Amino acid sequence: MPPIVRRATGMGADGSANGFRLPRPGVTDVRPSPPPGTAAEELLSEDALLDLSLDLAGHDVADTLAALDGELIGLAKVKQRVREIAALLLIDRARRRFGLEASRPTMHMSFTGGPGTGKTTVALRMAQMLHALGYIRKPKVHTVTRDDLVGQFIGHTAPKTKEAIAKAAGGVLFIDEAYYLFRPENERDYGQEVIEILLQEMENERASLVVIFAGYPDRMDRFFSANPGLSSRVAHHLEFSDYTHAELLGIAELMVAEQNFRFDAAAHAAFAQYLTVRMRRPRFSNARSVRNAIDRCRLRQAARLVAAARPLSRDDLITLCDRDVFGSSVFAEPEPEVLASPCRTD
Ligand SMILES: Nc1ncnc2c1ncn2[C@@H]1O[C@H](COP(=O)(O)OP(=O)(O)OP(=O)(O)O)[C@@H](O)[C@H]1O
Ligand SMILES: [Mg+2]
Repeated sequence: MPPIVRRATGMGADGSANGFRLPRPGVTDVRPSPPPGTAAEELLSEDALLDLSLDLAGHDVADTLAALDGELIGLAKVKQRVREIAALLLIDRARRRFGLEASRPTMHMSFTGGPGTGKTTVALRMAQMLHALGYIRKPKVHTVTRDDLVGQFIGHTAPKTKEAIAKAAGGVLFIDEAYYLFRPENERDYGQEVIEILLQEMENERASLVVIFAGYPDRMDRFFSANPGLSSRVAHHLEFSDYTHAELLGIAELMVAEQNFRFDAAAHAAFAQYLTVRMRRPRFSNARSVRNAIDRCRLRQAARLVAAARPLSRDDLITLCDRDVFGSSVFAEPEPEVLASPCRTD
């Protein structure tokens, strides 16, 4: 049972950046508090004061927000919305402790953004956070696309959709490229049946199912305008912008460091040039392209080290040099200043 205390404290009373990093006075047990409204909870009297810092769910939320900050560069607007959603649910829990009835906040969402902008990654963190706050029963995301929901023949769609919903029940159903469910040009398309089933499920509180519709912004806008019933049940629209050059470079550094590599100074400059060229090319996919580019740098580093045929130091194994970057096909027709300088291991 969450403890009762005499003095109220606001979120962020410890001066924390995210407002959820709260002191843990003498607390060693970090299990989530029981979900509001369960038998384990006792109603507070009208004149009681509730200290949010002692709601253990708040600590799990703080950890999730810190993980989000640490693993994702940029995305300030998205992170802000995630914090607002956390605050809403934390306050909803607090209100319930006083017996203040209100409808359960709607948590169905849409994540719109270009490829590789972090939608799937944020969905996983969102599930952890909603679970910590007792909103869903499991911190799991079940990802589906049109093919997982729509059947090929009459009578096949409903069972398929219900099966997907059953798998996601108690957690998050993440519908990637959701606009493929709706094909206005084909009146008999079974996608419409999926939408109708989803509409019912999204209203059903007992299912404790959160649906996240994800996809590229322009098509999602059209999808929601064509399906106002869905749109009105989606409470939170999170927009994931394309990353700037500086953010992509930051993402590259983070990814390299996470894998115990580092760019030397020349490789860093080379990667900055690589990004400038790559961002203009077709099928650029933000952070996903960065991850792929780093994987290929590792391939070239490995080939370079093996070809060097000499004893290797730890430093050799860690370091990506400019040649590992300039080997990319993006530089197939390099401008003169883009030519690689020789690497130490040559
Ligand atoms: N802001 C970021 N900082 C660091 N890494 C990031 C960031 N955004 C995305 N990534 C990384 O980039 C990769 C792609 O991200 P993710 O799969 O979440 O994108 P997505 O928006 O779901 O892409 P898609 O639309 O193609 O499904 C992942 O490895 C993720 O960890
Ligand atoms: Mg994704």
